[in-house]
Amino acid sequence: MSEEKILSYKEAIEKAHSSISRFPLLPIRGIPLMCHIANNWDSIWAFRPDPSDLLIATYPKAGTTWTQEIIDLLLHNGDAEACQRAPTPERSPFLEICSPPPIPSGLELLANMDPPRLIKTHLPFQLVPPGFWENKCKTIYVARNAKDNLVSYYYFHLMNKTQPEPGPFDEFVHKFMRGELAWGSWYDHVKGYWEEREKKNILYIFYEDMKENPRREVERIMRYLDLSLSDEVISRIVELTSFKSMKENPMANYSCIPTPVFDQSISPFMRKGEVGDWKNNFTLEQSKIFDEDYEKQMKDVDIPFRNLI
Ligand code: A3P
Repeated sequence: MSEEKILSYKEAIEKAHSSISRFPLLPIRGIPLMCHIANNWDSIWAFRPDPSDLLIATYPKAGTTWTQEIIDLLLHNGDAEACQRAPTPERSPFLEICSPPPIPSGLELLANMDPPRLIKTHLPFQLVPPGFWENKCKTIYVARNAKDNLVSYYYFHLMNKTQPEPGPFDEFVHKFMRGELAWGSWYDHVKGYWEEREKKNILYIFYEDMKENPRREVERIMRYLDLSLSDEVISRIVELTSFKSMKENPMANYSCIPTPVFDQSISPFMRKGEVGDWKNNFTLEQSKIFDEDYEKQMKDVDIPFRNLI
């Protein structure tokens, strides 16, 4: 265990203020990643998790933070105070994230934590360090319907000053369809984990199902983790992880990331938390073009996405 003091995100970003910018993307095996991630790729790929570590994998903006909060509460028997110990990215490190020093990288945070750790990644299946599969780590994948996922990612680009400029919405839609955004193609991402879910014992869940019946999905995750919590504790977890509770929770709403990086006055991290918000953002013409392209890109799989029409 390293004795070095790891700064909180707040302290570190305040120090690194002048080196924060909209970082360019560099490809790793054809997947565009933020340059700091690409430049540290060898150490990320070499990461060896403990068999007790849990992986939560998502395309960005699919409901990662929500699921991290649910799992942290499940692992702490619904103890709200225990889950207030630190903000989300410090409780559940982001495996591949690398930023200018002294902002701690995901690997640094992980090196300072004892397993079992709840590890977040946005890496597509083929870029997940092989140690996760060799050690048979439990993995939860959350998928969100493409149009809502795209809209959420667009607003996130506006407020997150480390992502490339999104450009106008129409241009962003085309970049999404072409897989040019950070972490690559949404289509390949959701398909990659879907195809491997049985072989690798991945729990594959949907944002829309979580919205429709959060209790059912919390129980599904609980069973996958081999936990058995009382009905009362499950009810508390559902309440603590509602959109409203998490929006007001400073340990879950990303207020830990200061304004030079996350400008929540442009768009809050906890933005709307709804299904179907794409209808407020896509024109009919954009939706038509998107649907035609979607048919082609998704024709080889039958993943039960909903709320696309
Ligand atoms: P919107 O931008 O559509 O509001 P991620 O955590 O993967 O970055 O995903 C962020 C998205 O999940 C945002 O979507 C955010 O509002 C939504 N979200 C976060 N917590 C939520 C919750 N408890 N219930 C519903 N949606 C939530």
